[in-house]
Amino acid sequence: MILRRILFLPVLLLALLTTALLLIAQQKNDDAKIAPYYPTPQTIVDKMLQFGELKPGEKMWDLGSGDGRIVIAAARKFKADATGVELDETLYKQSVARIKTLGLAPTARIILGDLLRQDYSSADLLTIYLLPVAIEKVTPIFDKQLKKGTRIVAHDFEFRQWAPAKTLDIDDDGEGRSHRLFLYRR
Ligand SMILES: C[S@@+](CC[C@H](N)C(=O)[O-])C[C@H]1O[C@@H](n2cnc3c(N)ncnc32)[C@H](O)[C@@H]1O
Repeated sequence: MILRRILFLPVLLLALLTTALLLIAQQKNDDAKIAPYYPTPQTIVDKMLQFGELKPGEKMWDLGSGDGRIVIAAARKFKADATGVELDETLYKQSVARIKTLGLAPTARIILGDLLRQDYSSADLLTIYLLPVAIEKVTPIFDKQLKKGTRIVAHDFEFRQWAPAKTLDIDDDGEGRSHRLFLYRR
């Protein structure tokens, strides 16, 4: 009986340690999350990419790529080289699966990670649908990293420290919702 208890102790400790590590990882992920998931309607996805003047072969990134719809449209319809960054593992897996099913893997990819920790220096176009507090965090990263001429399309929330080159108001997305797009050039 005592021997069984002694043998059980390391197993229990290992289980507790694993649970603690998982909780810490989850907490870290929650802390890094700077916007909720709220997908861009498909009609607006296409408008964002047109508005951003995306051309075949250009490198585009979607920051906080959700289910991957913008990345997929960029690779599929605009023939761009498209990358998404997503923190949520379920959305990441969902978007990777869709990219695979559509055979887009050579030109579309999703990084599972924090959008505040990526290198955007090679980007031609960035798309972003994040809350103002997140845009404040992204601004100094873009200021530091982006090459001259990089375009940024922001959906509904603007970069308050920059003047847009153009804005576009869409009164109805087909579901009665209005949207505003902002185009910036660095
Ligand atoms: C408003 S949704 C936009 C989704 C997609 N871009 C679209 O327009 O359909 C914002 C996304 O950012 C993701 N997100 C939030 N914080 C993040 C972070 N630090 N790094 C990567 N993704 C993040 C959320 O999980 C969510 O999927």
